Amino acid sequence: MAVTRLNYVSLYVTDLDLAKKHYEEVVGLRVTDVTKNQVYFQSSDSQNHHCVIINASDRAGIEHIGFKVSDPSDIKEIKLVSENYGLETSDVGAGEILGIGEGVKIKLPSGHYLNFFYHADVIGYANGMFNPKSVADEVMGVNPLSHLDHLLVTCEDPAKTIKFLQEVLDFNVTETASAPDGSIIAGFTTVGNTMHNIAFAGGPNGGLHHIAFYVYDRADVIRRTDLLKSRNVPTMEFGLTRHGIAGVTTVYFFDPSGNRNEFQCGAYETPGVPNRVELVTWDVDSLMGKGGFYYEAAVEPKFFQTVS
Ligand SMILES: [Fe+2]
Repeated sequence: MAVTRLNYVSLYVTDLDLAKKHYEEVVGLRVTDVTKNQVYFQSSDSQNHHCVIINASDRAGIEHIGFKVSDPSDIKEIKLVSENYGLETSDVGAGEILGIGEGVKIKLPSGHYLNFFYHADVIGYANGMFNPKSVADEVMGVNPLSHLDHLLVTCEDPAKTIKFLQEVLDFNVTETASAPDGSIIAGFTTVGNTMHNIAFAGGPNGGLHHIAFYVYDRADVIRRTDLLKSRNVPTMEFGLTRHGIAGVTTVYFFDPSGNRNEFQCGAYETPGVPNRVELVTWDVDSLMGKGGFYYEAAVEPKFFQTVS
């Protein structure tokens, strides 16, 4: 079995029109499909149908997360091993999620739902697949961004879900942070070449801390921070900063429903092969200091308290 990539995230939003405007004009994604209650978006560097779905709802938060597998037989295997582990599963029919083939949805111990599928419709790059333009068109004043990079989600017992992903689904665990008693309070997992695809931190089960988009260079994070400020998009008070963990240049902001977004650049690369990554560990003081925000050497409590 091989889970090959984080493919998309499906979010709840409280105002579909406002959220559509946000992900199109502020984030810089292109709209690839629209239904009565959903909008699908893709980044310009991806050929698949979407990387973000927004769903009209009475709440913000995370609906489910989509991961691609390397072979159609992986779907049945994931269903079997997940059920043997005691997790709930349900079959997802082809086309039930636009642009996505059949899959299996599992409920993690953290309360989050993951959909594992093999087929994703290919729509091609935004710049075309024949003689593509070298310079991308602007998307409403924002440079096109690279891809959906990762999510940080919350749960009461991060260790329990990280153990399942590592031992049963062969995710790599790149970094963890531990409390003085040795319990894991945060952990970073990946199936690709980036240091995290999905990270878990303490908080309410099923919670969403943020979704992160990778941009091409650190200067673009600065330019995007300028644009967020000029557009009065809510950001963290100290705006642009850097994480000690992963070393990325980062800015956080919120969509109109209260889902936290991140633009970031500079994460170190990982081999993308199971069990080939040596673990980096942090203690809680470092996590809440330079590991969290390198310049400020402190993390405001509301950074972890505000989740959707
Ligand atoms: Fe992040």
